Amino acid sequence: MITLYKQLLRNKERFIKATESLFTDENNCEEKYYEFRNEFNSCTDKQRRASLFVYLNRHCYNGLCRYNSKGIFNTPFGRYTRPRVPRKEMLHFIETAAHATFECADYQDTMNKAKRGDVVYCDPPYVPLSATSYFTDYHVGGFNWDDQILLAEKAEHLAKQGVRVVISNHDTKKTRSLYKERNAKITIFDVQRTISCNPSNRKKAKELLAIFG
Ligand SMILES: C[S@@+](CC[C@H](N)C(=O)[O-])C[C@H]1O[C@@H](n2cnc3c(N)ncnc32)[C@H](O)[C@@H]1O
Repeated sequence: MITLYKQLLRNKERFIKATESLFTDENNCEEKYYEFRNEFNSCTDKQRRASLFVYLNRHCYNGLCRYNSKGIFNTPFGRYTRPRVPRKEMLHFIETAAHATFECADYQDTMNKAKRGDVVYCDPPYVPLSATSYFTDYHVGGFNWDDQILLAEKAEHLAKQGVRVVISNHDTKKTRSLYKERNAKITIFDVQRTISCNPSNRKKAKELLAIFG
């Protein structure tokens, strides 16, 4: 994502044109998809890798961005009739993100930078809803229950220093008590699930927002 953003900033027209050249009818088939996926996984050219990322995102199953434990993108082909380049969306993104700084770091490091009066929003990996919800474990390293506790403790600690912290997660008994015990206010809301291996599971799931401070 960060490489993609940097490529857009460097030369948006050149980047979008290069990306559009991948979105042809001939490239919308399984064979080409897996060829590009292999290329992406070993690609060191930043512009090419970012273009392939957009191609994969728009041609893969459910738009799911999933890597295995070795950091290899492994989402299967998605079978869409005519995927399109999100040109308008990318241009809009550059405008709105013009004043943003993107960093890839552990949340503890990022949160350590917060100062009194700042607001921190955390969107951590969801706690699993059931033993089979392996979809929540989609990145190298994982994020287990101990990590959820450490994050909640960090949020409580920052709140005491005048930094408001908002954490989103699935609404479960465990998450409610995790955040309540650390003095957060809880708000519950419904969201439309779009990522699930089982289409009948793509229904509304409850989420919560825990607000610290
Ligand atoms: C629910 S997703 C957030 C999705 C994001 N809000 C978006 O719209 O694309 C959880 C994210 O937490 C990241 N993550 C996992 N462990 C982390 C850590 N220790 N520090 C920071 N981020 C972490 C994962 O890589 C994943 O991208």
